[in-house]
Amino acid sequence: MLWEQDVGGSNPLTPTIRILAHLSDLHFGCVDEALIEPLQRAIVEAAPDVVVVSGDLTQRARPRQFREAAAFLSCLPKPQVVVPGNHDVPLFDVPSRFLRPLARYRRYIGHDLEPVYVDRELAVVGVNSARSLTVKGGRINAEQVERACACFAAAGDDATHVLVTHHPFDVPRGHDTHARIGRAAMAMERLAEYGVDLCLAGHLHIGHVARMLHDGDASGALLVQAGTALSTRGRGEANSFNIIEIARDAIRVARHEWRARIGSFEVARSERFARSGTRWTAE
Ligand SMILES: [Fe+2]
Ligand SMILES: [Fe+2]
Repeated sequence: MLWEQDVGGSNPLTPTIRILAHLSDLHFGCVDEALIEPLQRAIVEAAPDVVVVSGDLTQRARPRQFREAAAFLSCLPKPQVVVPGNHDVPLFDVPSRFLRPLARYRRYIGHDLEPVYVDRELAVVGVNSARSLTVKGGRINAEQVERACACFAAAGDDATHVLVTHHPFDVPRGHDTHARIGRAAMAMERLAEYGVDLCLAGHLHIGHVARMLHDGDASGALLVQAGTALSTRGRGEANSFNIIEIARDAIRVARHEWRARIGSFEVARSERFARSGTRWTAE
């Protein structure tokens, strides 16, 4: 599998059927406090149909950090599809890490580690890729893949199929391939059969959009990375989130980046893709 960088136009889609707000890697406990309120305002102004948060809500899975993350989420529009990340599993509290790895996440954020949102136009399926046995790595297993496929099949071919994980299905050239979700090839092969359109992820702390290539051929899905929305560890990139507009046969991904000089987020990059059959290509 390889990343293939696509760049498209910035014209808005008409008519837009659904809007997703895609945030990731909030990392409460290690956030730039000045961004919290402007971020909430920007998301509310985007009027998303669904807010997606692709993991790492906290820095160290501490109760106070989860409480702050929960308070932040409570100010964002609903419905929300939120999944855990590797930082939401306690690192140093060994009994908790192995016996109750996501107990605090369940208590403060939500009992469902793999929420699903479905309507006539959209199916958004969350998958928990955080694991106790690895500190940073993540994994998707066959049962999780089959469950997602069943959700997409039930939603029908006319709905846009969106998968949400913390760990990405691939990494841009030059990045550590260990960050890739375990069993990515198995999952993408199966998900491609069920017409997955978008795979939303985080973990890398960089924003990126690419097409999934499988066995040298495009499987069809777009891989969308969100940068870190609030963390002070931005890997050299400004804090950001994505607004994803979905039309019948087109998708536009706009990366909104923090601009300290104006005290708000603004669009830094916009990429547009068209559907041809089961594939998405840059316009
Ligand atoms: Fe992270
Ligand atoms: Fe992570």
